Amino acid sequence: MLRARVALNPAAVVAPVSRRTFGSFVEHMGRCVYTGIYEPGHPLADEDGFRTDVLALARELGVSMIRYPGGNFVSGYRWEDGVGPREQRPRRRDLAWRSIETNEVGIDEFAKWAEKADVEIMYAVNLGTRGVQEALDVHEYVNHPEGTALSEQRRANGAEKPYGIKLWCLGNELDGPWQTGHKTPEEYGLLAASTARALRSAEPDLELVACGSSSSSMPTFGTWESTVLEHAYDVVDYVSCHAYYEEHDGDLGSFLASAVDMDFFVNSIVATADAVGARLKSTKKINLSFDEWNVWYLSRFQNAPLPEEWKVAPPVIEDRYNVADAVVVGNLLISLLRHSDRVTAACQAQLVNVIAPIMTEPGGPAWKQTIFHPFAKTAALAKGDVLRLHIDAPSYDTAKYGTAPLVDAVATHDPATGDVTVFAVNRDVENPVEFAVDLTAFGADLTVAESWTLTDDDVYAYNSKEDPERVTLRPSGAVTLDAGTATITLPRVSWNAVRLSRP
Ligand code: AHR
Repeated sequence: MLRARVALNPAAVVAPVSRRTFGSFVEHMGRCVYTGIYEPGHPLADEDGFRTDVLALARELGVSMIRYPGGNFVSGYRWEDGVGPREQRPRRRDLAWRSIETNEVGIDEFAKWAEKADVEIMYAVNLGTRGVQEALDVHEYVNHPEGTALSEQRRANGAEKPYGIKLWCLGNELDGPWQTGHKTPEEYGLLAASTARALRSAEPDLELVACGSSSSSMPTFGTWESTVLEHAYDVVDYVSCHAYYEEHDGDLGSFLASAVDMDFFVNSIVATADAVGARLKSTKKINLSFDEWNVWYLSRFQNAPLPEEWKVAPPVIEDRYNVADAVVVGNLLISLLRHSDRVTAACQAQLVNVIAPIMTEPGGPAWKQTIFHPFAKTAALAKGDVLRLHIDAPSYDTAKYGTAPLVDAVATHDPATGDVTVFAVNRDVENPVEFAVDLTAFGADLTVAESWTLTDDDVYAYNSKEDPERVTLRPSGAVTLDAGTATITLPRVSWNAVRLSRP
């Protein structure tokens, strides 16, 4: 049997778990909004047209925060189109996804949905085709209490109280040539800084996110962040990171090690941001908002161009996720948690239908994809402090990321309850690994409260409307506790969570 081990220490704290790590993303794209969260004719729609089955699943997923309204969409969006009487709202072309936006849902509707789902809104402004004034306008509409043209317009539209949105993205992926209004780092850095200054004059304690690179494969990865932060360091709080992973050409081993790349991404951007801070002689630290991450079979999308015909909410990138995808998603969450000292906000992209943990059929059911499960369980069990781990594990060779450990894990300790939770993946495609977790530093009275595993004989098994429970979490019997050491048998290609508590 392959073996790995780790000793946990309650004093080795990385940072408290940030609830914002469990963010998601709702973009006006494909069927995420229309027939996703919103479908007025659906038998389960509420009085506002929201699907109550999707709302219930979003709550079960444990999502804490949602980035809205894009994504690439936001770079051509006019927020004013989505407020006021519905019958007067214009239909527009969305150039990003080559579809028709009806504007039936806008910020007022989304804020209502967010309240029902009990999530914080992270609002993205358009810095592609628009600028400082429009960012100020939407801020006045959503956050100014009353007595100005736009705050009164919101009140007249039915929202008496301001929405109090704290977290704002200054545009989206403006390094990407595909982005409407794509910019050089100089142009974007200046615009982000002046938008940030203006927004801060209106509300000083906003938390502002400057766009980082749209992926680590961009030729400007690192230099983009550096230039942007040279301009905006003092007035922003975060720089964004975006990363999507997929299995290429049957190379499951590399795919399962995707979190190695996420670790590299985070470490690189932390170093880049800190280097700018050092140059500016600033003691302030810029944190990372990993506000788009997931498994996305992007190569399939790139080979299948967007539809010729302009349609309302056409299905776009409705990836179907398998067991291996769920293990990778669980591992990416492990990576995000491990970096909780600097990654204090993150959004899985996206929530419904578009590369999403929740799928719906128009007029029909909603179901959970495989990736729903590790997200929901991590969001439910990661509490208190994230602990720093030094795992001693066998390794394997990957074509993409070199030598990678077979086991990756993170642990949290909640001083309030005494609970210790270990999240672990086994990347071995053939063998189980016995993972010994030394808990003696926590005293003798911990017991196994719950243990879960996601695995399957068929690593490509998936859920569907017909078989929505084909892949799910199963209670794992494979945990023993002896002399202060928990031994967890991690099945091959698996994601696992074990919570230990005091009786
Ligand atoms: O999440 C899908 C798309 O991926 C987003 O619109 C964009 O920001 C990213 O490239």
